[in-house]
Amino acid sequence: MNFTGKVAMITGAAAGIGRACAIEFAQNGAKLVLLDVDEEKLQSVKTELSEYTADVLIYKCDISNEARVNEVVSDAQAQFGSIDILVNNAAVFRHKSEFVDTPTAVWEQYLNINVHGTVYCTKAVLPKMLENSYGKIINVASVAGIYGLAKMVHYSATKGAVIAMTRALAKEVIDKGINVNSVAPGSVSPSDNPDINFTTESEFAKNATYIGRTGSDRENANLICFLASDAASYISGENIQIDGSRKKI
Ligand SMILES: NC(=O)c1ccc[n+]([C@@H]2O[C@H](COP(=O)([O-])OP(=O)(O)OC[C@H]3O[C@@H](n4cnc5c(N)ncnc54)[C@H](O)[C@@H]3O)[C@@H](O)[C@H]2O)c1
Repeated sequence: MNFTGKVAMITGAAAGIGRACAIEFAQNGAKLVLLDVDEEKLQSVKTELSEYTADVLIYKCDISNEARVNEVVSDAQAQFGSIDILVNNAAVFRHKSEFVDTPTAVWEQYLNINVHGTVYCTKAVLPKMLENSYGKIINVASVAGIYGLAKMVHYSATKGAVIAMTRALAKEVIDKGINVNSVAPGSVSPSDNPDINFTTESEFAKNATYIGRTGSDRENANLICFLASDAASYISGENIQIDGSRKKI
């Protein structure tokens, strides 16, 4: 893969899959626009990336704040010219509760970040992509949006929305040079984050797959970067599961 001359914007880039994508894009020549609510961790990712590139813009940005998203995208486009690749990765997913006990405030937070945030970022970058007749949008969904996870109805609903949005938007823009796809990770353990011990992954997560282990951030980044590359030019409107052959639980 070669992303020389391309600009990739990644949300939730301070950790996990977003950070792994930033590393892989940078290793393959892309300029980067990185967004996250955690400014300190974003700065350390930028430092980490300096081994590969100095063309990294970082922005403290809550993607559920549309005005801030628009401001960030305008600034990044002014500096880098265009955004060619968007990875809608930022999401919240750690709250677990039975449906009847899930407060409305949690539903609002999940919808605002996981769905509206994805919409805001996409709306902000799409006009320039249309102008350029070139763009790659990759939404990070989840197997929760396909199978539905108990005690995560709120999360599952948002990821189902992301998958449906992917399929529908792809149909509007594929003839204009823009590919829109989503990936649906199963359980992920950051294998390349020195702060996290790979053995802390839960037994449940391992047992939920036929492969017998969780996926790594890097494995997810590999798929996302492939979909962002011109090698995937004939793929659009797809939701690709990356789940180690997950049992349907
Ligand atoms: N970890 C898993 O097991 C798993 C499984 C399936 C799908 N996913 C999906 O993968 C994606 C990345 O997850 P991860 O495991 O790397 O998580 P992570 O928590 O390691 O990283 C998510 C990043 O998003 C940032 N973020 C959260 N809310 C934000 C907001 N409002 N605005 C901007 N940034 C925000 C966080 O600060 C964090 O840096 C998410 O969309 C998640 O739903 C994760």
